Amino acid sequence: MSKNIIKNTHRLATSQARCDALAIAEAGLQAIDTQTVLRNSVELDGTVMRVAGQRFDLAHYDHTYVIGFGKAACTAAFTLEQILIDRVKEGAVVGLSERVCQTIDTYAGTHPMPSAQNYTATKHIEEVAHRAKENDLVLVIVSGGGSALLCSSMGECDQGQKLFNAFLSSGGTIEELNTVRKHISHLKGGGLAKVLYPATVVSLIFSDVPGGDLSAVASGPTCYDDSTVEEAQAIIDRYDLGQFNLNETPKDLTYFKRVHNIPIVSNMTALTAMQAAAWTLGYQTDIVSATQYATAGDTVELLQTEPAAGSVRLMGGETKVTVPPGNTGIGGRNGQLALSMLPRLQPGQVFVSLASDGYDNTDTAGAIVDQQTAATATTLGLSMTKYAAAFDSYPFFTAVGDHIDTGVLDSNVSDLLLLLTPKVATATDVITDITAKVIKDSRGNSTISVTVIAGEHAGTFAVPSGASTGAREVSVVPASAAATIVQNAIRSALVGMLVTDQAAIDQKLRTLGGDASLSGVGGNAAIGVSVAACKAAAAAQGLPVHAYIADLFGHQSQAPAPRLLVNLINGGAHAKVGSSIQEHQIIPDTDDVAAAHVAAVAVQQTLHQLLLQDFAPKQVTIGDEGGFVIPSVGIDTPFMYVKAAIEQTNTVVPILMGADMAASSFYNKGEYELEGKRLVAGELQTLYRSLHTQFPQLQLVEDPFVEHDYAAFACYQAAQPAVTCIGDDLTTTNKASLQKAITAGAVTGIIIKPNQIGTLSDTLATMQLAYDHGVRCIVSHRSGETMDDFIADLAYGTKCYGLKAGAPNQPERAAKYDRLLSITNYNTYDNQSN
Ligand code: PGA
Ligand code: ZN
Repeated sequence: MSKNIIKNTHRLATSQARCDALAIAEAGLQAIDTQTVLRNSVELDGTVMRVAGQRFDLAHYDHTYVIGFGKAACTAAFTLEQILIDRVKEGAVVGLSERVCQTIDTYAGTHPMPSAQNYTATKHIEEVAHRAKENDLVLVIVSGGGSALLCSSMGECDQGQKLFNAFLSSGGTIEELNTVRKHISHLKGGGLAKVLYPATVVSLIFSDVPGGDLSAVASGPTCYDDSTVEEAQAIIDRYDLGQFNLNETPKDLTYFKRVHNIPIVSNMTALTAMQAAAWTLGYQTDIVSATQYATAGDTVELLQTEPAAGSVRLMGGETKVTVPPGNTGIGGRNGQLALSMLPRLQPGQVFVSLASDGYDNTDTAGAIVDQQTAATATTLGLSMTKYAAAFDSYPFFTAVGDHIDTGVLDSNVSDLLLLLTPKVATATDVITDITAKVIKDSRGNSTISVTVIAGEHAGTFAVPSGASTGAREVSVVPASAAATIVQNAIRSALVGMLVTDQAAIDQKLRTLGGDASLSGVGGNAAIGVSVAACKAAAAAQGLPVHAYIADLFGHQSQAPAPRLLVNLINGGAHAKVGSSIQEHQIIPDTDDVAAAHVAAVAVQQTLHQLLLQDFAPKQVTIGDEGGFVIPSVGIDTPFMYVKAAIEQTNTVVPILMGADMAASSFYNKGEYELEGKRLVAGELQTLYRSLHTQFPQLQLVEDPFVEHDYAAFACYQAAQPAVTCIGDDLTTTNKASLQKAITAGAVTGIIIKPNQIGTLSDTLATMQLAYDHGVRCIVSHRSGETMDDFIADLAYGTKCYGLKAGAPNQPERAAKYDRLLSITNYNTYDNQSN
């Protein structure tokens, strides 16, 4: 599978319909990729070159030359040379950026305004053309943009510039512009065919002109032109364009006898590929037309005429946007069209408008719009009608975030439009019921287990809870109240919704929640429903949960599989006695989950032996997360035991140490109360420095300071650049808090706990921000856990840096490790029993 051309798919694909629309658009762009197109249509078999079914035996010609012009020309020349392996004697092409070729010279010219570079390049092209004799073959690459890039004299360049400027505000059509262009040039309108005669000419035409008029592409240098000087002059007079030196185009048909004009890609190439992609995704499709130059209003009308449910309507061409003089709006015709379509969209419909060369008059290719776009605009206080009236689509889509980005492409088949009308939901896709019950967690506290049912599929999530909770975590309501809320308010709001539309489900939960803390329903109720819906959707799609999440998260990755952060000694809020530090962990430094698990279990066993050598058995107890709890002796004591256990266990994989200081839990009125000492932030920094000197393998440290002190985190991170300083209470899986932490330089890692933020979508949004900034994500359990194993799927589906799931033996923790092991297909227990 080739690389995605649309670069921001994962950001834009927030619903199933958007995901499908983007996949269809992507298929269109892939199909017109210049290299793909050439490799599909030109092949060399011995000495025989086949071009779209026609045969040319290169052995029959003395020499083969390549000339070309237009946006695709340089990449096409480069690819042609590769296909024809050493058979091109010489060549010259002009495009927008050079490519290093063997025998063909490539030039970067300017478009749409011709310039001196275009003239220099054209001179070279003409020299090559003149060298071609009767027994030679000339391959001519003709592609969009060629009208401006090919100009045979400085005079023509000047005339071309003048003509283009005069035309911009004239109201004339592009056909009229091209008619005049053919008559101010010696190469266009068949002029090049005359220069090349009597050589054999094969023109490979990359058409950017909907409707298939080959003579319109780059003003038809190898095509017979039936317009006359008089017609060109009439156009000049009609629009009062000024003075131009016109010449007649060649009318002697002899010049065209040995010319083969072969269209190799057009707007229809993209549209048919899009049609096939839509069909594969289960949509009915129709290509409405590939008309040129309809107005935005006409296009909207055409697309919106009786769209059927479960259909994708496709259209190609160019929308004509007439911008009044003096207008200062920024944007291209695709952005403008998307803005015009926005108020006309029906619920669930998605519209995409895209410039196939990736350049919609601005640095974006176009936009994707649906009701989510409208909702975001409303939240931001942006009026779509005002922006449309001001021809100012670029700032609008920048603000709402619905631009499609591809970067500038060398393909160009004019614009691609698609209107997707969603399928009528079938019984298995729709939420039919939601239930909840109260269960006990690992601490014996009540929590809820939620089941979302969609026809014959269901997903259940049993919600965990924290003890050292961050102050900014979403609200938690008592379990029995949460169960009631799920079965009433949430159930009635969600039944009937598409279970696969995670974004819409989570948006509904947020609306019901009412505020950032989701206090209207309780964050525990919200996350229960959000994750249960995700599991039901995965079941409905026949996917493992991690695969469904990978789709939702755009298959991004920080690691092939998460590293295990295994908690071996508990303290702080997770133990009745013992160290003030909440967790002492080991991290087998490998993405081989099975090897990591084996190593962790081995170190845990060694540690147990070591502790029993120094303490009475009843002094070694078990904490909330299944780790050992030992009497508090000194800050560095647990670290020494962990270090000794690592050293005394013969593990194959290297093992790092980690700690969750959970410093908020020993912070009191400006001081940190640690093993009987009272320290201010600076003193705690000093203590950490000496810990790092003593234990260089301590490389992951979580919450070293109180949850509001971003500056202390930043100072610590700066002093320990090799250490991954991880935010948990500091960031609470909250995107805004993570942004603040990134800006402050406070962290290079973040703990991800879905129940801190209340919905899966928000969890993934925070992870997205982390991925964008190279911040390591560690998906984590809570100290009050259930047997649910969802976090293993979340960690694997997002391919994040780590999974923190407690000690390996407590059943609620083992469930997570087992799940990850079975996902990664190495079940250590099976291996051990063999
Ligand atoms: P909690 O602790 O689940 O009790 O909040 C876990 C942690 O702080 O990482
Ligand atoms: Zn923590």
